[in-house]
Amino acid sequence: QSLKIGLIPADGIGHEVIPAARAAIEAVGSDIPKPEFVDLLAGWEVFTRSGVALPEETVDALKECDCALFGSVSSPSRKVTGYSSPIVALRKKLDLYANIRPVVSVAPTAGEKPDVDLIVVRENTECLYVKQEELTNGEKGKEARATRLITEYASRRIGKMAFELALNRPRKHVTIIHKSNVLSVTDGLFRETVRGVPSLPEVNGRFDDVTIAEQLVDSAVYRLFREPQIYDVMVAPNLYGDIISDAAAALVGSLGLVPSINAGDNFVMGEPVHGSAPDIAGKGIANPIASIRSAALMLRYLKYPQAADRIDKAVDEVIREGKVLTPDLGGNSKTNEVLAEVLKRI
Ligand code: NAI
Ligand code: MG
Repeated sequence: QSLKIGLIPADGIGHEVIPAARAAIEAVGSDIPKPEFVDLLAGWEVFTRSGVALPEETVDALKECDCALFGSVSSPSRKVTGYSSPIVALRKKLDLYANIRPVVSVAPTAGEKPDVDLIVVRENTECLYVKQEELTNGEKGKEARATRLITEYASRRIGKMAFELALNRPRKHVTIIHKSNVLSVTDGLFRETVRGVPSLPEVNGRFDDVTIAEQLVDSAVYRLFREPQIYDVMVAPNLYGDIISDAAAALVGSLGLVPSINAGDNFVMGEPVHGSAPDIAGKGIANPIASIRSAALMLRYLKYPQAADRIDKAVDEVIREGKVLTPDLGGNSKTNEVLAEVLKRI
């Protein structure tokens, strides 16, 4: 038996941090089935060479894998004909409906908030990211419109995912993020559906111990900065979840620390929260920790908690010791030096 893992470094520092995550997985040895890695292409670099950002072979190969690790893509902010973000497409094609991002403070440095231990659970398939936009000419000039789709189906399954995660955490607390005071139809449906999850017949009272709160998205960002400790599991529609999880990442020092998974019922893909970091790409100084933690999170989702714990503990020790850190954390070590410290401890 083996664990087949697709590897998609994609662009920029993805080429530097995904190999580090691979090495961490290899280091856990017999805590997981023998890993078998499959190198796959996607992103801006392959698009500029071939005109395709997400080759069909990559999607087909992923369907044969148990899980995958994705680096980061460089997406242009302008519209480029034929290009659309492969990560957004992959989430749809593999039905990875939940984006799960834990944000934890390990060794608060100056300016960093202590005792942060929260998970953002972001709906990953709909909201404004259905990308139905149109540009028309109105009486007073151009008019741009976007469709925002919220379904009961997607809100229910992301809600279940949030409650499920809360059940395994000490505080067992879910906060629903929305803006239904203004968007009472779309956000109203999200809010009511998630609130209704604990009383679904198939849930059978399993979530009765989980407490529920809710918070409007704007004040949620405010409170995230003022008192992040109040949050345990935050569940949000796609756009709010995207923004909140990056904001939450700022609480713990660097984007280079924060992992995520894109999860569905049949597949999971680890992905650091950061982008392709063109300003430091190729210099060998990218922080590999977000990717290494993404690998751990992926293994945990696949129910290999021992392997995940070993990786997370090793990373936490390296951060706490504070001797071998990349420049984003105020150190002067290289990607490979941080990786070596982590591997030694695994
Ligand atoms: P970014 O996350 O790439 O970089 C923001 C800042 O954080 C930069 O100063 C960068 O050097 C630093 N940083 C990020 N990751 C780091 C790491 N592992 N170690 C050390 N420092 C790190 O975001 P930015 O600059 O807004 O976007 C750059 C490109 O990445 C864009 O083309 C954007 O579209 C893309 N992007 C892709 C994402 C994805 O693949 N999911 C997510 C965010 C951005
Ligand atoms: Mg984002």
